Amino acid sequence: MNILILGSGGREHAITWKLAQSSRPLKLFVAPGNPGTSSIASNVHIDPLDFEGVRSAIIENRIGMVVVGPEAPLAEGIADFIEADPALAGVAVIGPGRAGAMLEGSKDFAKRFMIRHGIPTAAYETFTPDTFEEAVIFMRGLQPPYVLKADGLAAGKGVLIINDFDEAVSELQSMLGGRFGAAGNKVVIEEYLSGVEMSAFVITDGITYRILPEAKDYKRIGEGDTGKNTGGMGAVSPVPFATPLFMSKVEERIIKPTVEGLRSEGIDYRGFIFFGLMNMNGDPFVIEYNARLGDPESEVILPRIGSDLYDLLEGVAHRDLGAREIVISPETAVTVMMVSGGYPDRYSKGYPITGTEKIIESTVFHAGTAMVDGHLSTSGGRVLAVTSGGSTMAEALGKSYRSIGEITFEGMNYRRDIGFDLKNREG
Ligand code: AMP
Ligand code: GLY
Repeated sequence: MNILILGSGGREHAITWKLAQSSRPLKLFVAPGNPGTSSIASNVHIDPLDFEGVRSAIIENRIGMVVVGPEAPLAEGIADFIEADPALAGVAVIGPGRAGAMLEGSKDFAKRFMIRHGIPTAAYETFTPDTFEEAVIFMRGLQPPYVLKADGLAAGKGVLIINDFDEAVSELQSMLGGRFGAAGNKVVIEEYLSGVEMSAFVITDGITYRILPEAKDYKRIGEGDTGKNTGGMGAVSPVPFATPLFMSKVEERIIKPTVEGLRSEGIDYRGFIFFGLMNMNGDPFVIEYNARLGDPESEVILPRIGSDLYDLLEGVAHRDLGAREIVISPETAVTVMMVSGGYPDRYSKGYPITGTEKIIESTVFHAGTAMVDGHLSTSGGRVLAVTSGGSTMAEALGKSYRSIGEITFEGMNYRRDIGFDLKNREG
């Protein structure tokens, strides 16, 4: 089977790395990939949003399965595009069509879906430029902080949490006034949920599902969870407070009604679902859905899957996931993201990276790297995700931080406190 993985970050490197361990004879292609994927697969120089380019790559390389990493091509309808093309008949896509990707692509759609199916989530209302006055009245009835969400995809920047009422009103005005472009034509205002966050992941064939390892990511740039939001500075799996009791509530109250809800609405969802959750005194609430795996969460959940990932993907393609087993390792996995100086604000690129070849205790997933004049160099904000396993979180973290000590590039930054809030909760 020839498989094409779409995307270029740490998540796609981790997916490719996991598939490369399959016992099945797979030939792996990544578009566009990165220097990390090029060592275990063939990179194809195509942008995942260039659907005609993807089509040619599928035909040229006799691809039988496409695994979609990021959300943008899903929201743009890559799965529908492939399925509608007779020349691509039989090509399986791991990732939902446009309708299913709305779970991530429209916060208003996701909220209405959850209400229809009785899935626990924060109380909310949706507003447009025409209902600004009503929005202000609605906000007056809420307790601060105020949570404002641009309806559409805004590259993780569309959520504002604001303590001051007047500031919230002026931010709302700017969102509805076009600050996030079309993504802000509608704004969801919701109740603030206080608790501890974590994420659950499933793979589904549209009928049944398999639960993947859960994870917690560290979104803020600064230690102690301070400063600006980033794409994610590190992650750990398992999550100590995700007890069997809590996870059984997640499955009964959230996962099952989501998969059944999609099916009952005629949305043929085949792919990954990422549930961003808040644990409020032991009860799970959905903060957001994503129609894909997380990054850097993939870099800790995939290493913990003991079974063959291809077997699960084939179960999705053949719609017999119910007949496939997933084995999850009890080991802890952690990843620490090495980022460019200045990220998530302005940063420079093109600095040479040294030391990755010396790493033996960890797996280095490439996030934002490029080969420049034959030398591995930085090419993004998030540069490398350094993943390690261990029988405890402390052991795994020790390995990642020792490995990071071997790697250098100008301006490099990373959080020294990944897992800090969980260390004394480990059983
Ligand atoms: P989202 O993009 O929807 O995941 O939101 C980004 C972040 O904002 C989440 O990871 C949470 O930390 C926070 N957040 C979103 N919605 C809420 C809420 N209703 N209550 C508290 N925090 C929230
Ligand atoms: N790390 C968060 C995400 O992938 O959305």
